[in-house]
Amino acid sequence: MRIIVVDNYEEMSKKAAMMIASQIMLKPDSILGLATGDTPLGMYKELILLYNKNEVDFKEVTTFNLDEYYGLNRENPQSYYSYMMANLFNSININMENINVPRGMAKDVKAVCSDYEDKIKQASGIDMQVLGIGGNGHIGFNEPDVNFEAETHLVNLNVQTIEANSRFFDSIEDVPVKAISMGIKTIMNSKKILLLANGIGKAEAIAKAINGKISPKVPASIIQLHNDVTIILDKEAASLL
Ligand code: F6R
Repeated sequence: MRIIVVDNYEEMSKKAAMMIASQIMLKPDSILGLATGDTPLGMYKELILLYNKNEVDFKEVTTFNLDEYYGLNRENPQSYYSYMMANLFNSININMENINVPRGMAKDVKAVCSDYEDKIKQASGIDMQVLGIGGNGHIGFNEPDVNFEAETHLVNLNVQTIEANSRFFDSIEDVPVKAISMGIKTIMNSKKILLLANGIGKAEAIAKAINGKISPKVPASIIQLHNDVTIILDKEAASLL
């Protein structure tokens, strides 16, 4: 596990974007696993800058997003599909057919989940998975629980996550209470993991994930068992290490 501590959010974002750009340079048809939320926004901005300078080419890249709210249309501005379009995909030369975000409006959720898993397998797995971390230690929407959930599945979001995500909605009642998320095995099967965290609000979760016991109560702690993890933290997120 490589832990890189930088001064601030901007530096974290630049380093993360450089890692993704290098991955694509080495393997132009890379399969990337992507996250949403506040944490990777700066990284996506940097990637767009690199693309505009012709330093990275997304033509052959395929992406799989970690998660999507259940019950939201893709067109809903709060959906993670809309987030990805607005913050990355609309500004780069990715082939729209190579973008994968779980279908939040699926009638047959089980089929959607198993199709997502199959598609990742058919693509020969994820080369580099970007992760943020919840204040409660979640990765994707794998919430603290008594078991690790292996594959892509429907999740009941917990109160802390609903509260944290309410900042993106008009009111807390509008936040979906369920989501479709890659499972822990899906994430752990990625060849490389790149976890980003900034701010004091993530310090405790980061300390538990890196130095604590491996437990489904802190889902991110499982990455201690992965053999190619890079964690980029700002000083505040690293302050309890
Ligand atoms: C988002 C995701 C979540 C977030 C986490 C942190 O696709 O899977 O695990 O990475 O909730 O969110 P932010 O970055 O908003 O603090």
